Amino acid sequence: GLAAVEVKGVHLPLFPLVESNINNIDKFHARGDDVLIVNWPKSGTHWVYEVVKLLMTGREELTDSIKEGTMFPEACAVESLEKLPSPRILDTHVPLKLFPDEALKKSMIIYILRNPKDAFVSGYHHRKNLKGGTSYCGTWNGYFDLTIDENACSHQLHFSLARRLLFVHTQDLKKEVRRVAEFLGYPKSEEVYDNVTKKCSFGHMKKAKKEPKFFWKPGDSMYRKGIVGDWKNHFTVAQNEKFNAIFNEMRNKLRVSVDFEL
Ligand code: A3P
Repeated sequence: GLAAVEVKGVHLPLFPLVESNINNIDKFHARGDDVLIVNWPKSGTHWVYEVVKLLMTGREELTDSIKEGTMFPEACAVESLEKLPSPRILDTHVPLKLFPDEALKKSMIIYILRNPKDAFVSGYHHRKNLKGGTSYCGTWNGYFDLTIDENACSHQLHFSLARRLLFVHTQDLKKEVRRVAEFLGYPKSEEVYDNVTKKCSFGHMKKAKKEPKFFWKPGDSMYRKGIVGDWKNHFTVAQNEKFNAIFNEMRNKLRVSVDFEL
């Protein structure tokens, strides 16, 4: 359902995969060359995964996600994670705080900063566009009221615990591609940065990326608008004020300074 899950005092995203497998995180066995992409759902998981994959493998074309699915430690059997060859590229929606200390010390962690209001709106459309029982059929206002708490608490990660951590924004793609490459220790030529930037642009990914289609209503996909600021087309003034109040309270509690605009 739409209800949030709370584990060890942390609000987790609504996605069912987290709810059913959260205990796997305790058993996660980190390797020194793991790349862990951490984010609240709908913040650009697929985009950053693709950037990392192209940079690390040296491939020029997008990954075929039908053949080669993304691995989430919270969603996979522990054994299948162990079997993956190094270096592993993993995605997670679980806050860093819940990972074993070893993973925070060893892994290279990329944390995606997307405006949580845009991720909130994107999550609403994601839910609406799904086929079947997990689809949401209500209004934006209804969705807002049901899920504001966890959406406003989305960036509640304990950043300071991680040793090797890079924040990436979902704007200025080429600059971020270069930062990711340098952080991971895969510096490349200008030409490679240009190609990765082009291949990972919203327009190209929407057109060319092979993704499983079975859970979407006809015509819908993961690639909806890919813009900054769509929240302004959804939030009322009152909703914006309410969101800011909860978000800022949470941010003050964390005492972490992140270069980030609401
Ligand atoms: P919108 O619904 O606002 O369009 P995730 O991969 O974490 O599920 O995030 C999905 C969101 O990222 C969607 O946002 C999607 O359109 C956007 N997105 C996907 N690929 C993108 C890309 N290459 N560049 C920019 N945005 C992208």
